Amino acid sequence: MPTARTGRRCVVAVDGPAGAGKSTVARAVAARLGYIYVDTGAMYRAVALLALRHRIPPDAVSQILARLDEVEIRLEPAAPGEPNRVYLDGEDVTDAIREPEVNAHVSEIARHAAVRERLVALQRAWAREGGIVMDGRDIGTVVLPDADVKVFLVADVDVRAKRRWRELLDKGHAVTLEEVRRQLIARDVQDRTRAESPLRKADDAVVIDTSDMDIPAVVDEILRLCRERTARGEAGTDKA
Ligand code: CDP
Repeated sequence: MPTARTGRRCVVAVDGPAGAGKSTVARAVAARLGYIYVDTGAMYRAVALLALRHRIPPDAVSQILARLDEVEIRLEPAAPGEPNRVYLDGEDVTDAIREPEVNAHVSEIARHAAVRERLVALQRAWAREGGIVMDGRDIGTVVLPDADVKVFLVADVDVRAKRRWRELLDKGHAVTLEEVRRQLIARDVQDRTRAESPLRKADDAVVIDTSDMDIPAVVDEILRLCRERTARGEAGTDKA
């Protein structure tokens, strides 16, 4: 499990819809600050993979929970700037959780309150000592409402679809841009409209539109927000 160094170190929450650039940006921010990076989406993906492998329908929440009781989901910080490695009972499923089949099912799994409760408990425990950048859908609103810096990344849907399509092509998946776009929109709708912890900008989050920004520019903007908080002496985990 990730462990944080101690001291007055920021907690940074990065939320937003699929393909807005969250994980790339959050990873880079963590690397620059020497912080832990936690990709919470990877955890929901691991649960989706678990359900798929056991042929458990996405709405069979008690069966999913029973399986979850039997396995350990582990995130490894990996090297600075690299994606988290994800382990399901010791098996490295880092690549398997990015497969199109998981993409198609993950949002249906993530809408269950009981599933979320378990994963959120882990996420909060990892953030306790600060020095962490966490990305997801509900980090600023539910998981870490006291985060020092909250950003909500958005981007035009066509830009997001193209980014995701290129990623899938690079991995050798034969998918069309239109398919990817359709699925991304469907997932966004499901994530935004679910009853439990929907995708939503926290009231105190800063919106960054990444449509026309390159990654270093977004990273610099978040680092600036962190410096601002630290300069005001507000950041850190040793506040009351
Ligand atoms: O990388 P991408 O933006 O496509 O998605 P992800 O961050 O890997 O998250 C996959 C799915 O997990 C999302 O579409 C949500 O349904 C769910 N998720 C969530 O509900 N809450 C989070 N904190 C993170 C992800």
